[in-house]
Amino acid sequence: MTNFTFSTVAHIISETGASARLGALCAAHFPQVHNAMLITDAGFLGTGLVAQPQHSLREAGIAVHVYSDVVADPPEAVVLAAVDFARTHAIDLVIGLGGGSSMDVAKLVAVLAGSGQPINEIYGIGNVNGARLPLVQVPTTAGTGSEVTNIAIVTTGATTKSGVVSAQLYADIAVLDAALTLGLPPLVTAATGIDAMVHAIEAYTSQHKKNPMSDMLARQALTLISSNLVTACRDGANLAARQAMLLGACYAGQAFSNAPVAAVHALAYPIGGVFHVPHGLSNALVLPHVLRFNASHAADHYGELAGILAPAATGSNEAKTAALIAAMEELAATVGIATTLRQVGITEADLDRLADDAMLQTRLLGNNPRALTRADAYAIYRAAL
Ligand SMILES: NC(=O)c1ccc[n+]([C@@H]2O[C@H](COP(=O)([O-])OP(=O)(O)OC[C@H]3O[C@@H](n4cnc5c(N)ncnc54)[C@H](O)[C@@H]3O)[C@@H](O)[C@H]2O)c1
Ligand SMILES: [Fe+2]
Repeated sequence: MTNFTFSTVAHIISETGASARLGALCAAHFPQVHNAMLITDAGFLGTGLVAQPQHSLREAGIAVHVYSDVVADPPEAVVLAAVDFARTHAIDLVIGLGGGSSMDVAKLVAVLAGSGQPINEIYGIGNVNGARLPLVQVPTTAGTGSEVTNIAIVTTGATTKSGVVSAQLYADIAVLDAALTLGLPPLVTAATGIDAMVHAIEAYTSQHKKNPMSDMLARQALTLISSNLVTACRDGANLAARQAMLLGACYAGQAFSNAPVAAVHALAYPIGGVFHVPHGLSNALVLPHVLRFNASHAADHYGELAGILAPAATGSNEAKTAALIAAMEELAATVGIATTLRQVGITEADLDRLADDAMLQTRLLGNNPRALTRADAYAIYRAAL
């Protein structure tokens, strides 16, 4: 039996409608707090769905300061502005209410406003010092799993993404409420759902920290997401499918927080950073090509996952891997997302820059089941064009 350690968020509430009692939940867990910062973005604020959790916090005697200046793939300047806001308003409870971008900003606000550590000291693994403010995460996309991960991703400089990985980034409470995801447009539902599937697939083949609990969660995540994604895209009001998607994304987040993601994410980040392609779509565009590249080193594990994603597949693990890749390609086509880099405006002339940037993602590339050179990265982008 493999030795391993596994960490996650202590309190997870998976309940449709739970965000309407967010105030009571927070008051019960943190009787000492008075001043909450609700961190979201303009897109989610525009849905009007902030009102109910905001009201419930006020009912529980907690003042609410809404901060809605988060943008997708948040740049460092947005994080720093949010930290200033927290200090100005003497915030003592941080709530991320949104997709991965809002939840990642919430993590960093809780850490930086709590400890006073400068942001440039915390990039990398295990560099956060001191305590953070109480932190509650409420996802409104079923994708990143950020509500249960110890990771925050920041766009540093013009286009590069850097990660902060530290135990303090685990929230105190994660609340999964499908009512908040009903208005998520079909293409965002699709791309964020495929991001979660990529988390599960990459956790399952993670080179150094693959472990039995992450494996179990990854498999269950793929079961839930593969059987609910198309329904959630076609019938966005289907609460059962939406709740299953949130739970699947949460499982995948728990899986990869302990068995980290690899080359799919490493090659996706430059696509997001340079071309502002949403994170889930960036992953989906390179996924089949990275799986094909990895197949020689991971076919046994991919063959196991084919049992979930391509159950009719038979024969060798190589044949099952091919069926798994075909199933993911078919899923992307069914939900209607872009399937080539050209469709998102990338040309052959851009591939050198993408390959250079991907090689900077050493934290992620080190987790890949097969070592990947710059020439390999270029060839994968070329195949994805
Ligand atoms: N911390 C982690 O573990 C982790 C993991 C994967 C990705 N990420 C990061 O998360 C970010 C991506 O997060 P994301 O994919 O959730 O997207 P996002 O948070 O950037 O949001 C995408 C869009 O969806 C809109 N939106 C969100 N919820 C909505 C709803 N319920 N109804 C209508 N519109 C809604 C937002 O306004 C935004 O325009 C990236 O920065 C990525 O690097 C973090
Ligand atoms: Fe991701």
